[in-house]
Amino acid sequence: ALGNPLRPLLLAAGRSTLLRRVVTALPVTRSVVRRYVPGEGQDAVVDATRDILASGRAISIDHLGEDTSDPAQAEATVQAYLALLAAFGRLDVPAGLPVPALEVSLKLSALGQFLPQDGHAVALANARRICSAAEAVGAWVNVDAEDHTTTDSTLSIVRELRADHPSVATVLQAYLRRTEDDCRTLAGEGSRIRLCKGAYAEPADVAFQRSEEVDDSYRRCLEVLFTGDGYPMVASHDPAMIDAAHDLARRTGRADDSYEFQMLYGIRDDEQRRLAADGHTVRVYTPYGDEWYGYFMRRLAERPANLLFFLRSLVPS
Ligand code: FDA
Repeated sequence: ALGNPLRPLLLAAGRSTLLRRVVTALPVTRSVVRRYVPGEGQDAVVDATRDILASGRAISIDHLGEDTSDPAQAEATVQAYLALLAAFGRLDVPAGLPVPALEVSLKLSALGQFLPQDGHAVALANARRICSAAEAVGAWVNVDAEDHTTTDSTLSIVRELRADHPSVATVLQAYLRRTEDDCRTLAGEGSRIRLCKGAYAEPADVAFQRSEEVDDSYRRCLEVLFTGDGYPMVASHDPAMIDAAHDLARRTGRADDSYEFQMLYGIRDDEQRRLAADGHTVRVYTPYGDEWYGYFMRRLAERPANLLFFLRSLVPS
């Protein structure tokens, strides 16, 4: 939660190259990381996908990696997604699962958005290749939200992608002051919006700082999305936000298949299964790959209990 006093420190540590080297070299780190990331290779994430689908949940897979300044790295990311989507095409999706059960989540910065030359055009072209491959196997695509300096560029690329691939979804972060307006603009028919609280360290002029303010903003944004004509995706582990979504679904008379819940791989797995057993669509955001350090540090920053678990595992018993 935002109230965690160590949050800014851990988020800063998540951007440090030196700490990245130290933390990733610790042998125990990997076993803790496995709670949140099923593996580094494609086979591991395809195995995890089979298990998640078999449990009646949908999945969104993120190939880990962010903010590259190297076109070859961006191309490698595209190739990883294309290979993953080819593997999706060979998967037997169990009958009875809701909507497209398979989705990939992309970070535009990993596709070249901030390359010094033509970043916008490169990321757009790369994302288009992934969208076409996803369409060919009946999978959905979601464009993740990164820090606030990327929001305008990301939303404009998403707009361009949706002209050819209308099912492309994106993420709005309730901690940003602009997000309620963005929800209004984007809640139209056919849109898919994932609403999350937001995971980056952001300054007070653009983002709410107190967790109560973020929660209030989340509730207001949810209301805009649920009363709109799109497909809201409620991405939170917070019981209060999940209750708010249940209330809104009742009040607005939404059918169970007109919105979905999303949680991260390895977090509140029992609650994910309970919601799915109750007839809700639940999608598990599942990251894989070797660039797990930044993602892992954001998870530690979110919850003191996650950090404590990690620190305890460093002490030999
Ligand atoms: P928060 O961290 O505020 O926790 C509130 C409460 O939830 C806790 O008090 C506790 O009750 C419960 N809870 C949380 N973790 C728990 C645990 N491990 N076990 C038990 N209870 C727990 N961010 C971003 O900036 N861009 C993005 O694109 C995405 N994408 C995304 C996709 C999906 C599917 C999810 C779920 C999240 C994201 N996020 C994200 C991350 C998001 O912004 C946020 O940082 C985390 O989800 C944490 O916020 P919560 O809403 O879960 O509640």
